Amino acid sequence: MTSEFFPRGGGGIVADRSARPDTIEADAIVTFLTEGGVGAGAVAAIDAAADGVVSRLVSAGEITGKRSECVPILAPPRLRTGQLVVAGVGRREDVDAGVLHRAAATAARQLAGRPRARVAFVADDSWTSRQVEQAVAGAAVGMVGQDLYRAEKKRTRFGTTLWLGAAGDAVERGEAIAAGVNLARRLVNMPPDELYPQTFAEEAAAVAGLTGMEIEIWDEERLARERCHAILAVGRGSSRAPRLVLLRHRGARRADGRPDFAFVGKGVTFDSGGLSLKPSESMLTMKCDMSGGAAVVAAAATIARLGLPVDLVAAVGLAENMTGPAAYKLGDVITARSGTTIEVHNTDAEGRIVLADVLDVVRGMAPGRIVDAATLTGACMVALGHDVAGLFANDQEWCDQVARAARAVGEPVWQMPMYPEYDEQIRSEVADIKNVGDGRWGGAITAAKFLERFVGGIPWTHVDIAGPAFAEKPRPWIDGGATGAFVRPLVELARGPG
Ligand code: BES
Ligand code: MN
Ligand code: ZN
Repeated sequence: MTSEFFPRGGGGIVADRSARPDTIEADAIVTFLTEGGVGAGAVAAIDAAADGVVSRLVSAGEITGKRSECVPILAPPRLRTGQLVVAGVGRREDVDAGVLHRAAATAARQLAGRPRARVAFVADDSWTSRQVEQAVAGAAVGMVGQDLYRAEKKRTRFGTTLWLGAAGDAVERGEAIAAGVNLARRLVNMPPDELYPQTFAEEAAAVAGLTGMEIEIWDEERLARERCHAILAVGRGSSRAPRLVLLRHRGARRADGRPDFAFVGKGVTFDSGGLSLKPSESMLTMKCDMSGGAAVVAAAATIARLGLPVDLVAAVGLAENMTGPAAYKLGDVITARSGTTIEVHNTDAEGRIVLADVLDVVRGMAPGRIVDAATLTGACMVALGHDVAGLFANDQEWCDQVARAARAVGEPVWQMPMYPEYDEQIRSEVADIKNVGDGRWGGAITAAKFLERFVGGIPWTHVDIAGPAFAEKPRPWIDGGATGAFVRPLVELARGPG
């Protein structure tokens, strides 16, 4: 169940700084090439060892070094490997950690189509340790498929991955980051009848045990005692009761006992829409509606495993949004934990209702900063498409830090406006606020404006990952399904600039 945090039966990743590609024995060797040609560096050394086969193919135009290109040279001359894979990384001046992450993942995904005992990747001397880490993480994500329930797997983890020319500590960090991403992917890919609030909480407890985090799980009784009526309302239509998970990594202790960061995740384990029922096609992928929760648990686990010197809380609100006889109704007025009353206009706008209580719980702990990740709105996908997450904030400096962390690891984000004018849209005639705007225009922003009511002025950034969390089709670097979106940015965020 927790193989991502202690890989068993292979999957080991080993750094080898001194090994030379011409003497290494492996099923495959992966080398990285820019569009500028072989030039100097690691790929040039391999090219020389392999009788110039790479430069010949580059001259012939068979290999260009463009991004996403991944050319296997079978039985390369003089090398002791079955194949030499040349992974393109595009223009030299644009190479960064995100590009290397994808290139390594693309090569690994291609190679993992068959079982392989030993695959060697060759890092370039010019790479920073952050770049090595992200490339190592990419390779370890790319070799893992999403066919959890297929008898015959389409991808097999390599027995051993060797990283030549890479430092051991960077390789270890890359492995830990990949473990987080793959954990999030596995949780999101699990079918909703297996992963529901209680089992999600059990998974979080197992991960906490392995990484030394403290954990609290609030069941329905505790939620009632804590006045979390918003979470309870959303969960009422389901036979699976809601939960709230609180994880804490104390990698530092502040004099006032306050956490540095709170990570908050939406954990709707299945979103049918409730009585405002979704049509079948939109409901099909709604097991992904706990992706934000999976991201914050996975990121916290990685941060704990890396022993980062931060005091961090991760909180996930878990509920299944269903249509059972007790389901919450349109026109209901819910008193959230904060005391704010919410008039329900659409039971499919449930994520913000769940997050209202989770944000209030972390607000009570007075963290320095809050970031939440949520598959909150289809409107955000209309605005930004599949690959880009939306950012919404009450504090520009904190938002800039979140954006920097995301871009540093190659996850694109775009900030959306939070003008006070949008607040008018969530005014209610009977309660403090209603749970949707007037009509669907600006729907991602009105959702964010709703959340803002519950953060009590603490610097906060909301990340709408409805687009990037789940890929209906495979991409060259990852199988279709869960992507593990925003795990790497959250880990990067806890490390600060550097
Ligand atoms: N979970 C959905 C948002 C979503 C849509 C995530 C597609 C991933 C892919 C959310 O709970 C939802 O249903 N939002 C509604 C809000 C509307 C009723 C105001 C939406 O976006 O349509
Ligand atoms: Mn919904
Ligand atoms: Zn939802």
